[in-house]
Amino acid sequence: MSQHSVKALTFNSMNHVEEYKKLYSESIKEPEKFWAEIAEKEIQWSKKWDKTFEWNYPDYKWFVGGKLNITQNCLDRHVEAGLGNKTALLYLNENYNRVAVSYGELLNQVNKFANGLKSLGVKRGDKVVLYMPLVIEQVVAMLACARIGGVHNVVFGGFSAQALRERIVDSGAKVVITGTWTLRRGVKKDLKGTVDEAIQGLDVVEHIIVLQRDAASALVEKEIDFYELLKDQNEFCVPEEMDAEDPLFVLYTSGSTGKPKGVVHTTGGYSLYTHYTTKKVFDIRENDIYWCTADPGWITGHSYVVYGPLSNGVTSVLVEGVPDFPTPDHWYKIIEEQKVSIFYTSPTAIRMLRKYGEQYCEKHDFSSLRVLGTVGEPINPEVWQWYRKHIGSGDRPVEDTWWQTETGGHMIVTLPGLPQKPGKAGKPFFGIDVDVVNKEGKSVSVNEKGFLVIKKPWPSALRTCLNDHERFKKYWNEIKGVYFTGDFAIKDEDGDIQVLGRSDDVISVSGHRLGSAEIENALLTHPAVSEAAVIGKPDEIRGEKIKTFVVLKPGHAPGDDLVNDIKRHIKREIASMVVPDEIEFAQGLPKTRSGKIMRRVLKARELKQDEGDLSVLDT
Ligand code: WTA
Repeated sequence: MSQHSVKALTFNSMNHVEEYKKLYSESIKEPEKFWAEIAEKEIQWSKKWDKTFEWNYPDYKWFVGGKLNITQNCLDRHVEAGLGNKTALLYLNENYNRVAVSYGELLNQVNKFANGLKSLGVKRGDKVVLYMPLVIEQVVAMLACARIGGVHNVVFGGFSAQALRERIVDSGAKVVITGTWTLRRGVKKDLKGTVDEAIQGLDVVEHIIVLQRDAASALVEKEIDFYELLKDQNEFCVPEEMDAEDPLFVLYTSGSTGKPKGVVHTTGGYSLYTHYTTKKVFDIRENDIYWCTADPGWITGHSYVVYGPLSNGVTSVLVEGVPDFPTPDHWYKIIEEQKVSIFYTSPTAIRMLRKYGEQYCEKHDFSSLRVLGTVGEPINPEVWQWYRKHIGSGDRPVEDTWWQTETGGHMIVTLPGLPQKPGKAGKPFFGIDVDVVNKEGKSVSVNEKGFLVIKKPWPSALRTCLNDHERFKKYWNEIKGVYFTGDFAIKDEDGDIQVLGRSDDVISVSGHRLGSAEIENALLTHPAVSEAAVIGKPDEIRGEKIKTFVVLKPGHAPGDDLVNDIKRHIKREIASMVVPDEIEFAQGLPKTRSGKIMRRVLKARELKQDEGDLSVLDT
């Protein structure tokens, strides 16, 4: 067998398609048996569970009564197996600074930092907000929280002070961990200043731990230096024995209405599912150099930069910066020099690389790559082909992974070794019972567009939305009895699924999930804005871009100054990635008779498409 042949399905001599079908059908027929066997084999538990699955619709539990700590699975067990010197994390940045940390060192740092957090009074169940650069210390901080049963809430470093503040308040975090800056295109982007602004007047925050990236400077009240905190701590921290259903983390994500919701994931099912999907989807091997380009501020970073790869004991690569700085082949250099074997990124990044042209690919040796992956938005077939041809040497599997913050891990993906169709995520993962249905929940015909739903809970499904269980229930009540993903999809004659994009008012810019309502609410806090509507428009590189329609209050006139002021306002309220590309001043907005803005109509007009059913339009 050649060095690059893939065999994620390795059970017997049947061909891969037959093997997948057999395993998949077993996993759907008896999911509890399927997951229990894998949980026993793949995950270390300090106490075995009493009951594999419990479903009191819509609430569910997995591995009830089981006890474990995810950090033991990610760290201790590898060190105990003699892998203490193996590189766990490999950090690189745009200056090609390289830092490698072994499993032994990482365990040591996590233990010390965990003891440091304890010394500040962080206890099991306490929320800790992270607003950090993509550096090794961020992973240390996440794992240290998990070690002592603290619940981390990572906020992406691109969010504004206002957005950060909302997340701190909603999660009730007593501790915030940050760094002085993050590096982006040669510029040090301030993080600490944003935290200072975010916590002004907030009594709830008792401590701010600061990773000082330049020479240490004087810190003020409440502030502690990251390494000072860690310095004299005991080298071992007994892992808190967590219940399988205890929360591991909260991560905020945008929905179609209102404010972002704090999606809560629990310990047992999430540990198992992220471990097993990483192993199968990327056909993990012992010496893999695994690079997922996501930031831990998003779910992909949680599941497939931190927990999944570390649980599998491979080397996970962290790169601070952007794909094309200092040169368009910056990422290619890293792949070649670090001999990356698994590479997982987003369609937006691939489209950007493709635009620079294949001459940059040709300068580099990609023979170390064995499996490629993509996530975050639909990948255009021609972009998929380009990725495989120019980065994947023409024959590597390209794993188009469909999933969501709420699902915790990959849901639809055509495993390596199975025939793949460009542009189609394809097959459901083991144990995932998917369907494409109409509004009434009835399966639609082959090749017909419908709503993508999941018929039963899986181990890493979200358990609640923080402080808002009603919002959780909506996922299971939109179409009674099934989990509503919010995506449109088509199933073909082979059962392969093509995800078409959101069916609701969620917009995806560079794979970042943004809610129209959230942006509109921010627009309405601008003194000149009376009404606002936000839509996504196709964008060649970023998938979608943001267009807003704004109705002004009396006494305000349209103009460039106002456009710029509104843009600055959005940047301040949410983040620069949310700043609208186009702002159009309008006299009024199309609304239903009950006063709801019909974004669908605005979008159709904008794209010169059929406006559809206008019977509810208030004319
Ligand atoms: C979209 C990211 C098509 C989808 C892991 C989903 C995708 C939303 C794919 C979740 C894919 C993600 N093909 N669409 N392979 N992956 N999406 O929560 O619309 O940031 O509902 O999770 O991204 O975004 P989220």
